[in-house]
Amino acid sequence: MGQSVDELLKELTLEEKCSLLSGETFNDSQSIPRLGIEKMLMTDGPHGLRKQSDKPDHLGMNVSVPATCFPPACALGSSWNREIVYKMGEALASECRAENVAVILGPGNNIKRSPLCGRNFEYFSEDPYLASNLAAQHIKGVQSKGVGASLKHFAVNNQETKRLTLNATVDERTLREIYLTSFETAVKEGKPWTVMCAYNRLNGEFGSENKYLLNDILREEWGYDGLVVTDWGAANDRVKGLIAGQDLEMPSSGTVNDSKVEAAVKDGSLPVEYVDRAVRRLLELREKLHAAGEAEPVSYEKNHRIAEEIAEECIVLLKNEDKVLPLKAEDKVVVIGEFAEKPRFQGGGSSHINTTFLDKPLEELKKLGNVEYVKGFACAAEECDANLLAEAVEAASRADKVVICAGLPEVYETEGMDREHLNIPGAQIQLIEEMAKHNKNIIVVLSNGAPVVMPFEPQVKAIVEGYLLGQAGAEALAKVLYGKTNPSGKLAETFPQRLEDTPCFLNFPGEGYHVEYREGIFVGYRYYDTCKVKPLFCFGHGLSYTDFSYEEITVDRESMTDQEKATVRVKVKNTGAVAGKEVVELYIHDCQTDIVRPYKELKGFQKLSLEPGEEKEAVFELDKRSFAYYDVEAKDFLVQSGRFEILVGASSEDIRLKAAIEVTSTAIVKKHFYRNSTFGEIYYYEPTREIAREMMDYFERESGIDFSLGDRPADFAFRVICDFPLKTLVTFTKGRFSEQQLTELLKKLNGVSHE
Ligand code: BGC
Repeated sequence: MGQSVDELLKELTLEEKCSLLSGETFNDSQSIPRLGIEKMLMTDGPHGLRKQSDKPDHLGMNVSVPATCFPPACALGSSWNREIVYKMGEALASECRAENVAVILGPGNNIKRSPLCGRNFEYFSEDPYLASNLAAQHIKGVQSKGVGASLKHFAVNNQETKRLTLNATVDERTLREIYLTSFETAVKEGKPWTVMCAYNRLNGEFGSENKYLLNDILREEWGYDGLVVTDWGAANDRVKGLIAGQDLEMPSSGTVNDSKVEAAVKDGSLPVEYVDRAVRRLLELREKLHAAGEAEPVSYEKNHRIAEEIAEECIVLLKNEDKVLPLKAEDKVVVIGEFAEKPRFQGGGSSHINTTFLDKPLEELKKLGNVEYVKGFACAAEECDANLLAEAVEAASRADKVVICAGLPEVYETEGMDREHLNIPGAQIQLIEEMAKHNKNIIVVLSNGAPVVMPFEPQVKAIVEGYLLGQAGAEALAKVLYGKTNPSGKLAETFPQRLEDTPCFLNFPGEGYHVEYREGIFVGYRYYDTCKVKPLFCFGHGLSYTDFSYEEITVDRESMTDQEKATVRVKVKNTGAVAGKEVVELYIHDCQTDIVRPYKELKGFQKLSLEPGEEKEAVFELDKRSFAYYDVEAKDFLVQSGRFEILVGASSEDIRLKAAIEVTSTAIVKKHFYRNSTFGEIYYYEPTREIAREMMDYFERESGIDFSLGDRPADFAFRVICDFPLKTLVTFTKGRFSEQQLTELLKKLNGVSHE
């Protein structure tokens, strides 16, 4: 073991320290051979290793060493399976160790704000609870094998359009409840060795110099003690960034920024402590790497098997009318669509993997059944080719069942670009509709990294959402289609009927270099569910070849304070004939109405594996955060005291069991009152309620207004008075309640004990 961090910090010269603040090459950190400080290699990520030995780039253009392409996060998110995400992390790390990679750049954990975002395939979900829980497992899996993860892109990087310079305006509550929550558990539980900042600006500040994000939230609130690295090229004002908590600039910018930092220290405008702090974090990362034990030898065959196993858990059966699936070995099946020969299994850009092996759907299907293939269409064709169409019609007419492999070509979904619509290429729609005229058993299998619209949905019997399944996904797909594997994936995002139904339709991708998140907290199902906009397929939806009955829900208490925890137990039984896995989803509905909240929010999930006839229990623990909203005034997550419903089901729409619990807030929130505070404000604040009662009676008596006029409900007067500001005590009593008395009243209200 070499020198300790403290010893190294003493020996490094200022110039050397500053040189450590940016990379040596495109993917390596700076080395200082004099002191035995080696460079550390950081490469993409997230679902496979992208190590480029020749000319590195961050756009996926140049070739990288062969590595296993695991299912990207769009598919992984649909697994709702913490264990397999962890397992993928371990396997990823084994390949990193073999290639001497110190940090693998992922997981990507931005929220899917709009299905148009070109990089959604690299992200888990539209729901922050699900996303953050899965990202934590990814990180833990990678790091368990002595490789660092890099949680990215922190934060609010939800589109590709103008991603390097865009300014996103997001209100505090939305930030906290949605966009930061998606990182919070990943940071607190996953403890990533590095976090990568986002390129864009949030409320005016670049991700690379945003003190609010990098220092106040990440470090001070969440206790993060690792290294913050820039997204590649995200540094703006390097000195400002360093002060804000940005440690390492990547890739190398030569000496451009390092010399600015050095000059700032020398002229006294930057205390050297900021440099030391960042260098310390870098050296601590190095120590973590040194502490990792001997690497096990990597087996690419084994990792291919793991990739296949994971892919099986990710496939979502969206529709299965008349149980047209699974296919039977004796069914005469015609497979149509070029995707069957040329699978679409990953997205474009910095996550693009040069695979070790690649399975093809057609070959895998042929292994399991009686399969004929006709091309029907080329992946990206907008117009149907008449000859291909005629051949497909002819084949479909004599088949028992038709499997159409459709989806989005890779150019539609890539880093750096957002989609402009949700359509799949025109030739595919035309072909599916034409096939439905000649065969009643049409099965559409989709390969895409984000939702598409499905005008063909009413005409087909089955739809299988294959997402992007990685290099071994074809075998998994074939197994699901032939029932060798029972599908168990559920959507981690909503599939809308139309683009116009999406909550941020009017504000995506913004105007010029600015986007406003005007839909606020109503992202994904939080919007569809609350506003009763019927989606095509809802969040959490996914079918199985067996049936599950939700038998019983029990909660270990009827009431709790926000300092306590409740345990919910749900019994689920496999009532069908085949084994299967069921994701049990738990949502919370706040029955109070004075705070605007989504109708329900996901606060727990568990995947159960059940043999036919078997019953198991899913156990959930609920705590303060399960019931809380973010209160901007209190600057904290708070619970509104009252009744909450616990909704458990098979999807966000398919709620099977309900229970209720009373939760009491113990938070002491000191409120301040002013002349324009209303009677209602002081009435609904417990510590001042008695004073409010007195003053409201006085006001009703002395104001000369008859609040009970007409045919009004009993509490009409009360509700109207609640809206009056306290200053009207003076004006409506024509001064009988003096300004002086008002001042004293305010003093009394603001002086009450809050204990
Ligand atoms: C991407 C990152 C990636 C980095 C390095 C950037 O353009 O946004 O996700 O890790 O390049 O390739």
